[in-house]
Amino acid sequence: MFEISQSERLRQLPPYLFKEIDRKKAEVRARGVDIIDLGVGDPDRPTPPHVVAALAETARDRANHQYPSYNGMGHFREAVSRWYRQRFEVGLDPDKEIVTLIGSKEGIAHIPLAFIDPGDVALVPEPAYPVYKIGTIFAGGVPYYMPLKEENGFLPDLEAVPVEVAKKARLMYINYPNNPTAACAGLDFYRRVVEFAKEHEIIVLSDAAYSEVSLDGYVSRSFLEVEGALEVGLEFHSLSKTYNMTGWRIGWAAGRAEIVRGLGMVKENVDSGAFQAIQFAGIAALEGDQRPVMEMRRMYARRRDVLVAGLRNFGLQITPPQATFYLWVRVPAGYTSAGFTSALMDQTGIICTPGNGFGPSGEGYIRFALCQEEERLHEAVERIRKLRL
Ligand SMILES: Cc1ncc(COP(=O)(O)O)c(C=O)c1O
Repeated sequence: MFEISQSERLRQLPPYLFKEIDRKKAEVRARGVDIIDLGVGDPDRPTPPHVVAALAETARDRANHQYPSYNGMGHFREAVSRWYRQRFEVGLDPDKEIVTLIGSKEGIAHIPLAFIDPGDVALVPEPAYPVYKIGTIFAGGVPYYMPLKEENGFLPDLEAVPVEVAKKARLMYINYPNNPTAACAGLDFYRRVVEFAKEHEIIVLSDAAYSEVSLDGYVSRSFLEVEGALEVGLEFHSLSKTYNMTGWRIGWAAGRAEIVRGLGMVKENVDSGAFQAIQFAGIAALEGDQRPVMEMRRMYARRRDVLVAGLRNFGLQITPPQATFYLWVRVPAGYTSAGFTSALMDQTGIICTPGNGFGPSGEGYIRFALCQEEERLHEAVERIRKLRL
């Protein structure tokens, strides 16, 4: 048998973040420990029943059994367009400015193939959702990392990007409400991004997967609300976190027509669109009863309060987030992210994610995902209280 060697692009990849955590988790579980997993950001509650019912009904219709269109059903794109108008007062042409995605990850990973040639630069925040970097590398591009620092409210310092890098950059990813830091961005920041993008002719890719996971009445803004944004960029959205639909794989990208078209051309050649019954379920989610979303927000706020109080009692420093279901927490003095994650896992069975897994500027932090029931979080707090460092 001949040797199977992987491509250079696969060999360049760091181990997938959660693979390493899964391995350690299996090790701790094998010791018989009752694990409280606050590692992965995957909503633990089910999809609202009316959304499931819409899928069940439309799955029976044979008209939905054939290939869907690569850019998504007209009905779904129209629902997205109505949602944008209602939610952000942004008008979008459903035919040219919106494309359905098989989850936003799919679009985030594919879009560099449309705009990056080998050696081109993409501005990528760090710490960040790893797919910005990996999508860039897969397209042969070179990520230029923009550190997200606490003193800047975890916003990238655009002035710190050297002019020669900005000139070469073709894409810039931004993500608010942010994973992993839970930071939020206002319209002022988005205005600066548009100005910067116009000056250097950079396509802006705003990942708004958590736009609806907002707490205490906070209302996230959209990059597309800012004047000029539709000339420079596109926004990714997802139904995954808003409607507990991570397993369904449905989202969209919306923005300037040529950018949407580029992504659509990649998709035309690598996938054949999202199952139509799932798109009908997506319409039911966007246009049906929104009370489950309001309940979801109250639920994450309660969970946040339990864990924030427990971590503060233990002496950890933390700013309670206004959006996302993540807590971004500084580790105690003398610990690294990995060291504290290990101590926590070994002594308490609680799993969190070491911040440096999201990029070097995440060193010194850990991330907790609030995707466990409140009583489990009380139990976690009780265990943390007994932690000995
Ligand atoms: C910041 C961010 N963007 C995008 C996604 C992808 O979500 P999906 O592909 O389920 O739409 C995630 C998932 O965890 C995320 O954290």
